[in-house]
Amino acid sequence: MTPPATTAVIFDLDGVLVDTAQSHLAAWRRIASELGFTFGDRVGESLKGVARETALDLILTAGGVTLSPEDAAAAASRKNGYYTDQLRHLDQASLLPGALASLRWLRENGVPVALGSASRNARTILNSTGIADLFDAVVDGNVVRRAKPDPTVFLVAAEKLGIAPEHCLVLEDAIAGVEAGIRAGCRVVGVGEPDVLTAAEFVVPDLSALDWPTLIGRPE
Ligand code: BG6
Ligand code: MG
Repeated sequence: MTPPATTAVIFDLDGVLVDTAQSHLAAWRRIASELGFTFGDRVGESLKGVARETALDLILTAGGVTLSPEDAAAAASRKNGYYTDQLRHLDQASLLPGALASLRWLRENGVPVALGSASRNARTILNSTGIADLFDAVVDGNVVRRAKPDPTVFLVAAEKLGIAPEHCLVLEDAIAGVEAGIRAGCRVVGVGEPDVLTAAEFVVPDLSALDWPTLIGRPE
């Protein structure tokens, strides 16, 4: 059976368009260190794509630490402070390879584009990197609270674009994000390591490796 034509694109933000995944990780490592433990790369990988509170639960589990709801809220807020300190240095140079060229190609070719991110800092990042105007719809952690791997963020993005999910291509760097895109019924291309993003249709190291003319408008 020939797959449906791809007519719209939904980008994840952190780690796909902008080099912020490392800043999230560094902020979580600082919180772990304050709480007296460290965590490994596998736990670090699992923090990608998931909501801030979920990420905190994951590191606390890894460190065998239990916090009261008040202390957990304070740790999540402190982490966001460390993270947003890093965002003050963001500019267009912080975009990952191929991000700006991809967004521009899609805009020039009339392809609807949405953002589908778990982050509540997404608007700040889009503005400081100068790409906010290149999206037809922005769905972030302020719009959808049910975070990846729940498919809602991509279902809402597709709906806002007015395109059926099976005609949308999702770009994701997170295991949870790939799963969310698949559960939404979208095509999902991974950005990162093939041995990590095993469920993706295929995986590229960054967006500059994508050949947009062959990805878009594939005939039915
Ligand atoms: C995702 C990141 O984009 O946003 C996660 O991959 C992060 O690591 C999540 O936890 C929530 O981000 P924020 O900016 O709202 O804390
Ligand atoms: Mg990501």
